[in-house]
Amino acid sequence: MQVVNTVLDLKEWIRSTKQSGQSIGLVPTMGFLHEGHLALVEAAKAETDVVAMSIFVNPAQFGPNEDFDRYPRDFERDSMLAEKAGVDLIFAPSVEEMYPNETQITMGAGSLANVLCGKSRPGHFDGVLKVVTKLFHLLQPDAAYFGQKDAQQMAIIESLVRDFNFPLQIRRVETVREQDGLAKSSRNVYLSEAERIEAPKLYEALQRGVKDAREGQDPILEMIRLIESETSGTLDYIELLSYPDLQQEPNAQAILALAVQFQKARLIDNIIFNLKEN
Ligand code: PAF
Repeated sequence: MQVVNTVLDLKEWIRSTKQSGQSIGLVPTMGFLHEGHLALVEAAKAETDVVAMSIFVNPAQFGPNEDFDRYPRDFERDSMLAEKAGVDLIFAPSVEEMYPNETQITMGAGSLANVLCGKSRPGHFDGVLKVVTKLFHLLQPDAAYFGQKDAQQMAIIESLVRDFNFPLQIRRVETVREQDGLAKSSRNVYLSEAERIEAPKLYEALQRGVKDAREGQDPILEMIRLIESETSGTLDYIELLSYPDLQQEPNAQAILALAVQFQKARLIDNIIFNLKEN
C-alpha cells in the first residue's frame, strides 16, 4: 500500500494506474476508520482493480461551532486497517495541500439541503460538494463508494454526478451496525457509557416507524415518544421523505431519518424503504 500526501505524488500514481488500464475505486473518508468504512473498501475491491482511499478531515463541511478541531484522528491505526483491508493507495493531504488558495467559486446543494441534516448544519453539504468535486477530479475514479448512514450526502452526491455528468458511478453501501443495532460511526467514541446503552433505541425507533408508515400511520409522534422517554438525547429531527429526491409526502421509495444530540455526540441514522412493500 502506498501513502501519498501531495497532489503531485497522487498525479503520478493516477497516471501509472491509468496507463496500465486498471479501474479505480475511491473510498472517500475523514479517517478514524470503522467497519462501515471497511465495508466500502470491500465493495470497491469486488468491483474495481485498485482501491484508493482518501483520508481528509474537511474543514469546509464543519460549521464554526462544530467538532472540526476535536474530530477523532488516528492516522497510524487508519493506515494499518486500510492496508489489512486491501487498500492500494491512501491519499492523505494537509488542509493547505487540498485548499492552497481561497476560491471565489462556491458549490451549493440547493433545496436538497433544506431538509434533514442540511437544515441544522447550514453550509455542511456545500462543503461536502466542494471536497468530493476536488477528490473526483484528483483521483479520477471509475466508481466511488458511500455509506447509506449518510443518506442525504449520498443523494446530493448522486445528484451532482448525474446533473453535471461526472464520469464515474456512485455506489451505495448499506449501513454497518453494532450487534445491538447502533449504526457504526466515528462519532460514537463521544458517547458516555450511559448514552452508549441508550443509543440503540434510535434504530429501534426507526424500525417501529417504518412498520407504522407501511401500515399507513404517521410514524413520527410515536418515535418522538420513544426517543424522549428512553434516551437522554435531544431530538434534532425525525423526517419521512421520498428518496433520493427528499420531497415531502413520499408514496413509494422513502427515507425515515433522525438526528439526536447527546452530550458530545450528534448521532444520525435512517432506513430507506419502500412504503408499499412489507
Ligand atoms: O462521509 C464522510 O466521511 C465525508 O462527508 C466525506 C464524503 C469523506 C467528505 O469529506
